[in-house]
Amino acid sequence: MERETEIMTEIQAQPTTTITPALRGPVAMQLRDVAVSFHGRTAVRDCSFDVVKNRVTSLIGPSGSGKTTLLRALNRLHDLTPGAKVSGQILLEGTDIYRGNLTVTELRTRVGMVFQRPNPFPTMSIYDNAVSGLRFNGIKKKSLLDEAAESSLRSAALWDSVSSRLKVAASNLSGGEQQRLCIARALALEPEVLLMDEPTSALDPVATLRIEELMTSLKSRVTVVIVTHNMQQAARISDDCAFLLMGEDRAGELIEFDTTEKIFNNPVDSRTLDYTLGRFG
Ligand SMILES: Nc1ncnc2c1ncn2[C@@H]1O[C@H](COP(=O)(O)OP(=O)(O)OP(=O)(O)O)[C@@H](O)[C@H]1O
Ligand SMILES: [Mg+2]
Repeated sequence: MERETEIMTEIQAQPTTTITPALRGPVAMQLRDVAVSFHGRTAVRDCSFDVVKNRVTSLIGPSGSGKTTLLRALNRLHDLTPGAKVSGQILLEGTDIYRGNLTVTELRTRVGMVFQRPNPFPTMSIYDNAVSGLRFNGIKKKSLLDEAAESSLRSAALWDSVSSRLKVAASNLSGGEQQRLCIARALALEPEVLLMDEPTSALDPVATLRIEELMTSLKSRVTVVIVTHNMQQAARISDDCAFLLMGEDRAGELIEFDTTEKIFNNPVDSRTLDYTLGRFG
């Protein structure tokens, strides 16, 4: 009887929204009951899942379901937004990124971000863009910066096309090249996690494919969390997948989190299947 009570207590202690697949490796970030509101209106809530290291995790869901809002919370990008409140816990290697002793600069060095529209510093050279984060962190030694510029541009599959024109302004690059420069800029800091918000939505299919290949090749070094509207992309490149949907009050919530294979082929919730099959949203 006692044992039964113990088991029941244990089951009840599990947050109901945590749908974490069997552990598949060490965890980079843990989200526990994360919610974000703006001026008291909840934009996204009930988000509990683990971002497993060296895997690509995709966030999918209809427009307005809170994907960008959730992704930005992982890098404290709401800190300066008036009226924004992030609750719950987000842990990076076990440290609470909001309440632990990690500074915002340290966090953003360890967790990089690539935005929807390529946003290199347009008048800055390709080289200066690539090393801008390192310079911001106080690194001045030319040999170190040179080395970082080359290795990050190589990692972003851009070195071969820009090595002879590193001093040219970043605005001369094509959209796809600019996005890869932004990826290089983030990689130069050797982050543990790279957050990407629809990084290919402004790009043509060829540039999109290059970035997708890049993500797959990078995951041995960096854990990727990507927001995408493109179901084929999520299915192609992600290992794990979180599906968000708006509730009746229009707040986004996590409906299901699992391996991408399970989300696309055998989800628990019928709404997940409806969405991945394009039945709504
Ligand atoms: N700075 C803000 N102030 C007030 N409301 C915001 C702010 N940022 C986002 N929201 C609201 O939060 C909700 C979720 O928006 P979010 O941009 O996260 O959705 P999304 O899933 O990324 O959508 P999309 O697929 O269109 O990019 C929306 O209702 C949006 O209006
Ligand atoms: Mg968005």
